[in-house]
Amino acid sequence: MWRGIIEEYMEYMPISDKSRIITMLEGNTPLIYAANISKDLGVELYFKYDGLNPTGSFKDRGMTLAISKAVEEGAKAVVCASTGNTSASCAAYAAKAGFKAIVLIPDGKIAKGKLAQAVAYGANIFAVDGNFDAALRLVKEMASRFGLTIVNSLNPYRLIGQKSGAFEICDVIGCPEYVFIPVGNAGNISAYWMGFKEYYENGRIDTLPHMMGFQAAGAAPIVEGRVIENPETIATAIRIGNPVSWDKAVNAARESGGEIDKVTDEEILSAYRYMASSEGIFAEPASSASLAGLIKKAENGVIPKNSKVVCILTGNGLKDPDTVMGLQIDIKHTSDNGEGIIEYLEGIA
Ligand code: F0G
Repeated sequence: MWRGIIEEYMEYMPISDKSRIITMLEGNTPLIYAANISKDLGVELYFKYDGLNPTGSFKDRGMTLAISKAVEEGAKAVVCASTGNTSASCAAYAAKAGFKAIVLIPDGKIAKGKLAQAVAYGANIFAVDGNFDAALRLVKEMASRFGLTIVNSLNPYRLIGQKSGAFEICDVIGCPEYVFIPVGNAGNISAYWMGFKEYYENGRIDTLPHMMGFQAAGAAPIVEGRVIENPETIATAIRIGNPVSWDKAVNAARESGGEIDKVTDEEILSAYRYMASSEGIFAEPASSASLAGLIKKAENGVIPKNSKVVCILTGNGLKDPDTVMGLQIDIKHTSDNGEGIIEYLEGIA
């Protein structure tokens, strides 16, 4: 049985006492070959579907380690700022560990499902008048003033846990040539790069991938080389103007011969629908930035034909019902004796 990312990758994790691991058996998410999109784009594409983690996002990989270390270190409470997924994950793992979880979210700017999760898991929720960057500033102040443990990705254990995603990919298909990944606070791209490099140094793979990170055009501080005071994007998970791991992400792109670029909300939404309707995978808008980025680069001829490519799908589409229901949707009506559906079926027969 899969034991969760800490035990599965123990030799790469800074934990020695197995007895206090807080896990919900996160990780081991499917790497799904995307036959239809591969054909369309002329590449060999796999989706790493991290939306199938216990709380529906990749955050669980880092949270299991951050919370386990908090237990080890005798923390009194954990705190985070979040665009929604970190708070959901933090709330769940803190509940399991018996910690009080304090989560700060930008008021009105997180997807409904994510807020519902924080409520369900019993977190202490504060809606901040301000965006994610403001919430994170406040978290840092409160943590130092009141001795709380921060479980945002400035906590080093978060990235160490998240690197397990790279290990899992390599364990299944070896090292891909390109990894496309959304960039918000810029932790995950840094974590993946750390994972690939560690596997390389340990002789588990003998090549390294190009790391291709994508920000939303209205929230693209790294691409534009400046802090964005008022970031805006439909992909609320990556609505961040001053990422914590900025330098690490730039380094990952540079060292790997990749890049960090941006995609528009239109490109994100188009990739979001295309992925769901052609592969049956419903990922959240921020996650779709990875596929949007691949489409952009494939169309520009940057990606050689038949390259082995992985798009990281960071979160589950069900978390954000409002975005999909805001699209033009076609729900037909029928009476219970078939008036409506019969005409339709005759029309397509
Ligand atoms: N995709 C999703 C679904 C996310 O929730 C996030 C970040 C990212 C991508 C970007 O990852 O920050 O490591 O570059 N969400 C954070 C949160 C900020 O609070 O849940 P990153």
